[in-house]
Amino acid sequence: MSDTAPSALETLTLKASGCTACGLAAERTNVVFGSGSPTADILFIGEAPGFNEDQQGVPFVGAAGKLLDRLLGEIGLEHDDAYIANVLKCRPPGNRDPRSDEIEACKDFLADQLRLIDPAVVMTLGNFATKLLLKRDVGITRLRGQVYPWWNRYLVPTFHPAAALRGGATVLGHMQEDFALVRGILDDAAAAEQADPDAEQLGLFS
Ligand code: URA
Repeated sequence: MSDTAPSALETLTLKASGCTACGLAAERTNVVFGSGSPTADILFIGEAPGFNEDQQGVPFVGAAGKLLDRLLGEIGLEHDDAYIANVLKCRPPGNRDPRSDEIEACKDFLADQLRLIDPAVVMTLGNFATKLLLKRDVGITRLRGQVYPWWNRYLVPTFHPAAALRGGATVLGHMQEDFALVRGILDDAAAAEQADPDAEQLGLFS
């Protein structure tokens, strides 16, 4: 038996591993709950696990994940500086789009991840994550490129990395602009904290 009590995030991960709230449970190899730092300042939200993620139980381990790591590297961050999650924790068969009943069944897990990790910035990757958080039925092409206030923190929507893999340099360039917005927010928050060590209590990071 471990001599330390499991964290709330570990308890939630365990709960998700036995989830049967929707039909995807019958088809999955692994629940892909999330990975990265439980104290990250930035949390990424993708769409749903693909084949590789389902096999390994870890989000963004395939080609899209490699591009995500590259974009993180370009703003001076590593995979482990972030926390990475998805709207759905189980793979839709054949990588089809998430269905609304599946999103509904899964969304409390994402809400709990956001509450427990409490990042300064949330970056949504693609339409499903962006629509779920911003509750606006507008496509990512129109929503990206801006910073949105979101529950006392910042939300920066961008394309899904798979779109950049398909769409080439233009989509990738837009994603780089959006990642630069994230860098700016983190820098501003760090500068504010340095100028005023009580900044954390002023709610900059909450
Ligand atoms: N695409 C996603 O949206 N999430 C993953 O984990 C992998 C690919």
